[in-house]
Amino acid sequence: MASSSQPKCLVRGSINIDEFFALPHIVRPGETISSTSLTKRAGGKGANQAYAVARGGGAVDLDGCIGKDGEWVRGFLKEGGVSDGKLITLDDELTGRAIIQSASDGENSIVLHAGANYHLPSPLPSPNLQAYTHVLLQNEIPLQSTLSYLKASKQEGLISVFNPSPMLSPAQLREFPWDCLSWLIVNEGELFDLLDAFDESQTKKKKQQNLEELELEELKKRSTEGILNLHRNSYFSKDINIICTLGSKGILYSNPTSGSDDVGHLPAGKLVNPLKDTTGAGDCFAGYFVAGLMRGEGLEQVLKTCLTACAICVENQGAMESVPSRETVLSRLS
Ligand code: ADP
Ligand code: NA
Repeated sequence: MASSSQPKCLVRGSINIDEFFALPHIVRPGETISSTSLTKRAGGKGANQAYAVARGGGAVDLDGCIGKDGEWVRGFLKEGGVSDGKLITLDDELTGRAIIQSASDGENSIVLHAGANYHLPSPLPSPNLQAYTHVLLQNEIPLQSTLSYLKASKQEGLISVFNPSPMLSPAQLREFPWDCLSWLIVNEGELFDLLDAFDESQTKKKKQQNLEELELEELKKRSTEGILNLHRNSYFSKDINIICTLGSKGILYSNPTSGSDDVGHLPAGKLVNPLKDTTGAGDCFAGYFVAGLMRGEGLEQVLKTCLTACAICVENQGAMESVPSRETVLSRLS
């Protein structure tokens, strides 16, 4: 672990260029249509979460790869307070890209190209994490790399936070080194994906449907049971702290390493402006959460700050652009 007392976070993850094409409808096979606008934004879950750590007041390095076409993204991240010393520009790869068709009826359709995010040096170097106290990981890079960072963080005694998005395959979930992990952040859908992957007792389990349509009490009840079941599962570990985000219904949290077996609930932050865009709310939460842990605040205080940051995030357009500064969050909290 870092010898100095200053906490520092490493985010090892993805960086994308998101291109939003506004269209009358999603393009059909063989069809050519013109977009009414094209908006280009920095994205990727690694970059989004690193940006949110920085906005939340934490010192953070983003470890990942871009192509030469992504130098402006580097600039954007640096301006937001993300250190780019571990951000590599590859000569022969393109920056990860999301081509998003955004239709006027609200439909979306996305083409993803991983590009430089899937670059893997061979042989895979073992990560040097000596400068860090916290590691934050997602699942938009090769799993092999994520696992090497997670294992190294355990060896170094760091606090690790993992947001398994997009979800891993059931086989990957069963083989995952859960004993290396400090905090798991999932949404309700991901929570039940995990349970399904671990549940071999039923030949074919019916997928939990339309979770987001459940009433608050029912969703809380089912997700609380889900968290307790996860902790009892032999594939998993009793020592992993879990946060389950529930969209507009807030979060559930379980902090067994503090000695408590309770599952707590906190409501979402109150919106003071109309709901605009929930893109990146989960990433805002993850980044703000690690920034709070880095300050060493009590869990409830950390979580309340996260929820307020997320409320502001969903009131504003974009994934990164909508993540508020810590001052903005604190002034809304006061
Ligand atoms: P994900 O994008 O990973 O599914 P969620 O949708 O659960 O993440 O959002 C993360 C957090 O953002 C929620 O816990 C909540 O605090 C906030 N949030 C998301 N959607 C809304 C909403 N419609 N109203 C208020 N807060 C929201
Ligand atoms: Na969401």
